[in-house]
Amino acid sequence: MAISFCKETNTFKLDTNSSTYIFGIFEGNYLVHYYYGAPIPDTDVEILRIRPGFASFCPDSPSARVFNFSPDVTPLEYSTFGAGDFRLSAFAIKNADGNKVTDLRYVSHEIYKGKKGLPGMPALYVNDESEADTLEVLTEDKVTGVQVTLVYSVFESKGAITRSVRVKNASKKAVFIDTVHSLCVDLPGYDYEMFDLYGRWVKERALERYPLHRGIQSIKSKRGSSSHNHNPFTALVKKGANEEYGDCYGFNLVYSSNFSIDVEVDGFASTRLVMGINPEGFCWHLSPDEEFCSPEAVMIFTDKGVGEMSRMFHRLYADNLVRGKWKKAKRPLLINNWEGTGMDFDHDKLVSFARHAKDMGIEMLVMDDGWFGHRDDDKSSLGDWYVAEYKLRKGLNGLIKEVNDLGLKFGIWFEPEMISPDSDVYKAHPDWCLHTENRDKSIARTQYVMDYSRKEVREYVYSMMKEILSNNNIDYVKWDFNRNLTEVSCAELPPEKQGEVFHRFVLGTYEIMERLVTDFPNLLLENCSGGGGRFDPGMLYYSPQIWTSDNTDPIERLTIQFGTSLCYPASTMGAHVSASRRASYETKKNVALWGSFGYELDPDKLTEEEIAEIKEQVKEYHKYYDVIHYGELYRLITPFENEFKVAWEFVSEDKNEALVTVVQIKQAYDPFFMLRLQGLDRNKYYEIEETGEVYSGAFLMNAGLNLTHKPNGDGQSYLIHLTAK
Ligand code: GLA
Repeated sequence: MAISFCKETNTFKLDTNSSTYIFGIFEGNYLVHYYYGAPIPDTDVEILRIRPGFASFCPDSPSARVFNFSPDVTPLEYSTFGAGDFRLSAFAIKNADGNKVTDLRYVSHEIYKGKKGLPGMPALYVNDESEADTLEVLTEDKVTGVQVTLVYSVFESKGAITRSVRVKNASKKAVFIDTVHSLCVDLPGYDYEMFDLYGRWVKERALERYPLHRGIQSIKSKRGSSSHNHNPFTALVKKGANEEYGDCYGFNLVYSSNFSIDVEVDGFASTRLVMGINPEGFCWHLSPDEEFCSPEAVMIFTDKGVGEMSRMFHRLYADNLVRGKWKKAKRPLLINNWEGTGMDFDHDKLVSFARHAKDMGIEMLVMDDGWFGHRDDDKSSLGDWYVAEYKLRKGLNGLIKEVNDLGLKFGIWFEPEMISPDSDVYKAHPDWCLHTENRDKSIARTQYVMDYSRKEVREYVYSMMKEILSNNNIDYVKWDFNRNLTEVSCAELPPEKQGEVFHRFVLGTYEIMERLVTDFPNLLLENCSGGGGRFDPGMLYYSPQIWTSDNTDPIERLTIQFGTSLCYPASTMGAHVSASRRASYETKKNVALWGSFGYELDPDKLTEEEIAEIKEQVKEYHKYYDVIHYGELYRLITPFENEFKVAWEFVSEDKNEALVTVVQIKQAYDPFFMLRLQGLDRNKYYEIEETGEVYSGAFLMNAGLNLTHKPNGDGQSYLIHLTAK
């Protein structure tokens, strides 16, 4: 068992191959946090219990029965509001008397093998009970009768712990959940740097790395999605930690709506991190006997650097988050018509796409936005999910038949959570969009957002999607989400439940996605939100790949893909070669190979030479698929540290194959360029395919590969393929 409880010391110890996590039941039944970091043995746990303390102006706890115990200076396992701890609160209830004082104390616990799912929400899962052990700790607020169960699942071999909380109103009066974070972690000292994957549309997930300072630093979304602007991920890394060395704590929330990550450094130089649903805009009414489950948070610790932290997330998500037929199966090589045609296409144009695509070795045609209602631009028809026969003269069936006859699979675009004011469905049901009585409806991309907190709305949209998918041979769906939520209230819910609508909305989305993947188990679902505006682990539970960004310029894609890779595996990142303005097809291909590869261009416009080049690229795609999709990533030179040149490497699990990519962002007059590789077997010998040269793994990782004479002009790039002899 990766989880043990010691009766003598009243402590819980959660062990993984890279970390130990310890907390215990202190006098007064407080849950006190003792340790999270590199593995330590069981023997010294007792000494950690001496940590709680007292300081002037920090209230004493009368019930702790020991002099000098203050919740305000003690590392706590799950902090609450108003009962002596002035730091960040993980949890607060507004009780029937109208105050928010909340005080949770230990009641009992249970340890079991395996891991349970979360009702209606995405969560990590076990393929086999032996992969994880679970600890549930029941706590209670005696005055209100509210019970909170802290749930920890330990993925021992993956170095990961998942956490969530279950809140039950065991009293006779309704209460409001004001704040419910999924995790709280107290660390001694503040000698850490915090990672923030920040951005905007077409520039998602760039890395900002800053030292912690006293006070509160935060990463949040209140857009009704995880957003382009911030990601529900952070890391706290020891100052000086780099890709290869140093202590790293990684935190990620399995959630696709408003999230909040707060880190507070207090006056005693202690650090607290809380992560969960953003309390701003959230207020959940909990009637007697009702339960509420928080989303799940993932924590990873390694002392082997940022690169290893990322690889741990990648392994965990590839094995225990992504699901279904396409989890490990080879994905079809696709061409998408969006950048090639926009909405200006018809049957003949798409058949011509398919014919060319087939000739180049592409395996699937994806018909993007513009196939339904009377949609010729972004001003109409969202919600009218029936075929625009004036464009598709043989109907969807006729089009798909011709595409299939050419030997290609077929994929289609939907934006199921949206509604255009110019649509039949809006005319019939103007109240089906999110809106607030007597206020203007904010409009974005000429569309409103369907109120997915309402069952009838979800049923309507899903029945239309199901009709299309049941009656046509469709292998793939691109699920888009092209604006954020405003005027969030629900016409059907009473006033006391209006604070639930953001969360109810995303539960509605999860419900429809779950039905979709259950009803159509062979379907490959690709998530998208104006590119990567909803690139989060919640979405990965339903869609094994996500369109990483609308920005397909290969040079700008570098920061996006490097940033995304901090937490998410290559197989989840949609990456296409497009006709974008900059760089050669060679560089476009080299950058797009780092992901779920495809094309996004009009093949009718390609020259003979370009077609010949793409045919060669398709061969490379097949050749390198396994090492990229099933191998391990090493970021050798990142764009966050070097503005001239980047390099990354994939190494197969057995360390017999490696693929190195180097991209010169802008020309630099390096007189000498030795690139040290990582992750190889130091005792094996590797042959460089291009030159036939053979070097030891030890040489390649320590002295490095001499790349001085390789191309280094603006935007030039190359691959180096190595195989063990
Ligand atoms: C979003 C997506 C694009 C494309 C358009 C269609 O912006 O990110 O890939 O599907 O919508 O409207």
